[in-house]
Amino acid sequence: MKKLFTYALTGLLCSFNFIGFAQQVKKLTVYTDTRGPAIPPAMWGIFFEDINFSADGGLYAELIKNRSFEFAQPLMGWKTLNKDGAGTALIINRGEANANNPRFARINIKKDKGSFGLANEGFRGMGLFKDKKYNFSILARNLGGNVKIRIEAIGANNEKIGEADLPLIKGEWTKYTTSFTCKATDAKAHLNVYFENPGTVDIDMVSLFPEDTYKGRANGLRADLAEKLAALKPGFMRFPGGCIVEGRDLANRYQWKKTVGDVADRELIINRWNTEFANRSAPDYFQSYGLGFFEYFQLADDIGAEPLPILNCGMACQYNTGEVVPLDKEDTYIQDALDLVEFANGATSTKWGGLRAAMGHPKPFNLKMMGVGNEQWDVQYVERYKLFAKALKDKYPDIKLVTSSGPSPDGDKFDYLHAELTKEKADFLDEHYYQAPEWFFNNASRYDNYDRSGPKIFAGEYAAHIKDTKNTDAEYKNTWISALAEAAFMTGLERNADVVQMASYAPLLAHVDAWQWRPDLIWFDNLRSVGTPNYYVQQIFSTNKGTNVVPVKMNGAVVAGKDSIYSSASTDAATHQLIIKVVNTSATAQPVEINLQGKAKPQKTYNLTVLSSTEKYAYNTLAEPTNVAPKQGGGGIAGGKITTSLAPMSVNVFRVGY
Ligand code: AHR
Repeated sequence: MKKLFTYALTGLLCSFNFIGFAQQVKKLTVYTDTRGPAIPPAMWGIFFEDINFSADGGLYAELIKNRSFEFAQPLMGWKTLNKDGAGTALIINRGEANANNPRFARINIKKDKGSFGLANEGFRGMGLFKDKKYNFSILARNLGGNVKIRIEAIGANNEKIGEADLPLIKGEWTKYTTSFTCKATDAKAHLNVYFENPGTVDIDMVSLFPEDTYKGRANGLRADLAEKLAALKPGFMRFPGGCIVEGRDLANRYQWKKTVGDVADRELIINRWNTEFANRSAPDYFQSYGLGFFEYFQLADDIGAEPLPILNCGMACQYNTGEVVPLDKEDTYIQDALDLVEFANGATSTKWGGLRAAMGHPKPFNLKMMGVGNEQWDVQYVERYKLFAKALKDKYPDIKLVTSSGPSPDGDKFDYLHAELTKEKADFLDEHYYQAPEWFFNNASRYDNYDRSGPKIFAGEYAAHIKDTKNTDAEYKNTWISALAEAAFMTGLERNADVVQMASYAPLLAHVDAWQWRPDLIWFDNLRSVGTPNYYVQQIFSTNKGTNVVPVKMNGAVVAGKDSIYSSASTDAATHQLIIKVVNTSATAQPVEINLQGKAKPQKTYNLTVLSSTEKYAYNTLAEPTNVAPKQGGGGIAGGKITTSLAPMSVNVFRVGY
């Protein structure tokens, strides 16, 4: 991809002053004494869904695919290495005796010559780093003989890059561990597990984790990805989706209780995205639930985000089966919601609070809100929501509920749900918009005249989608024009922070070799990750939030697209700063004068963060991660005014002390 022209800021902005080309100076006025709506601390958050290999093969740092042989094809991801007929592997299903993890492999070594092993391919290969430590573990029991286990990490060029031995397998089911330090970096390595000496052993839960997980936790998360999430400083974290909550049918819905406790007891299920799109089929996509509700809560806690779990409300995906549970059988679903509050907030003496403590977090997670269903619609949703709301509000009146407004930002389904849920005095309506960039540009005023007395809005899933082209880079749909459109729109969300109280881009993560849906906020392969231009827009808004909206006007009107300019402003009580966001969507530089009108005396200089590109379709890749990335600059304030030129197609954040 062509190298993109970027701007050096401080002092150089003037070189883009196209005033000479008869661009009129745009005059913005910020009313610095006026305090508009408070901006909720949780305003800008993240939406996590296990789509695009976001969990297994992504954020969840486990490197072995199908570690417990529970995929529909029990040896998917595994290859038998059998030299001279040395051994066999038999998959045994113990059924009800271990209903959550019924299968294991019985390895029988017949000869002491040749060799027998199982090779695991990882998730589109295994990413291993030179000089980093990797921890291997396996559940095993001995049924006779002296079987020993040896592991070898093999690079893409077939060279051995790591190895370790385990002690002799003895007696009943025991967890055995070993580790190795890798000799080379490889994005497409695999792991061979060899069994030596005649005899028979049973094995299960074969696992390989990097030592360096996020915050060094066992069963932990991939550090680079978690750090990218933390760097967004998200106000909330919504999990676990998305449509994954609904399941294609109710049997395959997300059930949080199956995702907590010992990882060996978490019942694996299909990932509903595995064959959803024929052109991006991934039949090896399952949910091990190694990243389950405890880990989600812990991650939210670690990154300072309010947890926002979304639960199934007794309805499967209405694009798939549309199955619903009869109203008189909703109790199980409602009980799951009530128990979740206990799991998150309850005393350690309670059943679910006790489990939280046993898992390592005696302190409550301080859950304040919960979603009821994802993209549901029609009367069947409202009926079910009412049952949920009654039970939850009776027991936990302070928990706010997020309700669906359907899959689209307008239309019959949307209008019906808005009217019905307003009557129900719902706390939050979850609006989704996956639309063209033009929609975002044209909807920057969407909330200016929204009903102030109705439910608050959670802009729970949004992303500007450009049309397909023949470009083959996975990351190409995260173009600058889409990010610019989102930024323009987000000024409208911020201006209306009294109505729109939370917002999150979606989806969050995508593996370049295993995605189903794009655009996405962060791309990764087995070793690297990259923030898209859209990521940087989210980050710029989140880290420059402020505490109260301050009006900003151009010719007496809100600044929402006239002359290709969009703007919102806030004050930050903690830092005593004004934060002014100005988006220039024009392909040319625009001279502006920002008049800071009020009694508060501004300091003499401002800091500026700019995200810009002159290339509409610029995007970041794993190889070129900073084609579009924020740059810092600043300038002087004279006569209470900032006078500068906005770079073409730019998002600008001015911070002024006062
Ligand atoms: O973000 C991808 C999908 O888009 C979500 O799962 C769903 O809620 C929406 O349709």
